[in-house]
Amino acid sequence: MRNANRLSIPVFILLVRTLVHGSTAVVTVDATHPGAAISPQMFGVFFEDINFAADGGLYPELVKNRSFEFSDPLMSWHEILLIDAKGLAKPRGEMDIRTESPLNQSNPHYLRVKVTEAGYGFWNSGYRGMGVESNAEYRFSAYLRAGGPKSIRAVITDENNKEIGTGTLTGFDEHWKKYETVIRASATTQHAHLNLFVDAPGYLDLDMVSLFPIDTWKQRPNGLRKDLVQLLADMHPGFVRFPGGCIVEGRQLATRYRWKTTVGDLAQRQTLTNRWNDEFDQRPAPDYFQSFGLGFFEYFQLAEDIGARPLPILNCGMACQFNSSETAKLEDLQEYIQDALDLIEFANGPVSSPWGALRAKMGHPEPFHLTMIGVGNEQWGARYLERYKLFAAALKANHPEIELVVSAGPAPAGEPFESMWANWRDMKADIVDEHYYMAPDWFLANSGRYDHYDRSGPKVFAGEYAAQTSGTTKPDNRNNWKAAIAEAAFMTGLERNGDVVRMASYAPLLAHVDAWQWKPDAIWFDNLRSFGTPDYYVQSVFANNVGTRIVPVTSQEGLYTSATIDERTHEVLVKAVNHNSTERPVEIQLKGISESGKAQVTTLGSSDLNAENSFEQPKLVRPRASTVEVKAGTIQARLPPYSLTVYRISLQ
Ligand code: AHR
Repeated sequence: MRNANRLSIPVFILLVRTLVHGSTAVVTVDATHPGAAISPQMFGVFFEDINFAADGGLYPELVKNRSFEFSDPLMSWHEILLIDAKGLAKPRGEMDIRTESPLNQSNPHYLRVKVTEAGYGFWNSGYRGMGVESNAEYRFSAYLRAGGPKSIRAVITDENNKEIGTGTLTGFDEHWKKYETVIRASATTQHAHLNLFVDAPGYLDLDMVSLFPIDTWKQRPNGLRKDLVQLLADMHPGFVRFPGGCIVEGRQLATRYRWKTTVGDLAQRQTLTNRWNDEFDQRPAPDYFQSFGLGFFEYFQLAEDIGARPLPILNCGMACQFNSSETAKLEDLQEYIQDALDLIEFANGPVSSPWGALRAKMGHPEPFHLTMIGVGNEQWGARYLERYKLFAAALKANHPEIELVVSAGPAPAGEPFESMWANWRDMKADIVDEHYYMAPDWFLANSGRYDHYDRSGPKVFAGEYAAQTSGTTKPDNRNNWKAAIAEAAFMTGLERNGDVVRMASYAPLLAHVDAWQWKPDAIWFDNLRSFGTPDYYVQSVFANNVGTRIVPVTSQEGLYTSATIDERTHEVLVKAVNHNSTERPVEIQLKGISESGKAQVTTLGSSDLNAENSFEQPKLVRPRASTVEVKAGTIQARLPPYSLTVYRISLQ
């Protein structure tokens, strides 16, 4: 974890003054007075299970509906019919869904196959197919019991039905037991299937049927998809917000996100319909459910792995206000509040406490260092305020060390934004979450949004934002450089106001190219590949170059600047966005630095505002490193057209 307070070095105020001398922009950095602190957690990530971000994405289980708990319990499972000599499909058995004597009560359905002839088979279609790589190993496992059959053969096939890997499970009896084997694939394909064949007549019961890559992030058995975690790790985000997003709220209270059903034994985690499955008529995803294989333990572990603070968001007793708006009665709120108290124990409590013991049992006796919790996602109105007060009373009394994040509603201005802020100021809330899904021009025009915010009120969490090139929730939104550079310009304003803005995160984070509901998104992936958008790289450049103290800065038309110092590395960091179609000469005068030497430069940009990254050109828009001469404390440079540039200059 990065810590601004670890080093004590002389503190500087860096005063950046931007003037125009002819066509040259002069940026003056005055390193002679102290400046305000900026949170090292400033730029983080917002994770929500939307666009197949969890199941089918970051959580790399290849079998869809592995526990037969989808609303259609046979969804994604199909029989293999053999064609006889007369061309007729010949059944050798049948598939049935049963609930008697289930594996456990949280997972009540299972598949019974009744086999009349040896060789009966059935298959799973995966998440728009299964991504399988040549020479990689996959753990095939299932809970099984049987009367008759003694083995089941698993065959991975490619899109042409060619066998590319096999394995066998054997030795069943009439009791549920977990069996597993490892299958090595002999070919690479995006669209594999898993086929299962039973060796003998009788019945076979199956549950938790899984095909899971061995090569996960940190090689964990229930681990995450490596390429996607790597993209997150490369960002060095200050925090990970999870699990959303509206998914926290549910469309009704009964389908809200309950963290307690997402921890412990995988087979006990209760599958739930994903609220995004039929949210948008234009992008229906009836096969979108949550297995919770990626649950709260895994989210905490992910945050820890990538050096980020965890920021869980909890339901506050309100379902989504764009859907049912169902609200828990005040007298029923204790269950929700207890969930929050128990979560703190799960994250931070001693291993002798009940929830701390579960954390330890899951492999993490050390605390997860939880310091913040969101009470409600994108909520607003009097019912929210009433419920928040009860949460705050209980949480502050028991855990004054935990900061609470509250919502200013879905829009960045007007009502209910204004009245929510007025209430939060009165109530002395800790951190207020603002959302802006707005046009690129809004981001450019709002780069000074926080310059005049009240310094003594609650801190701001710019918790969800993304420039919408077409309009909010429009399917033709683009992740192009036009959107990303507008976000970069806006983010200089977040950084300049780091004394008010505590944290910021782009949203949503992940999207499957064949299964998305919401555009734009920071990272796109298919069953095997992934790439960061220009928006991702803007986030990455800011998060990798966050300092510990800010510099007040004045900007001018077409140029957006911010600057910080990093007391840990003893550097000055100057960021400049040139939002012009032409190159911009700039002179950076570093007062207090008289030395000459080299500054590290990171440049991200494209003269084409329509430029987008893709699987074919994943790094068309990406940061490029170079150096520039610092001569007696002055840098002469040329900012490329439509670019974000970061200079790192040693203070020593
Ligand atoms: O990021 C997508 C959605 O936008 C989030 O779930 C919600 O909080 C916001 O409305």
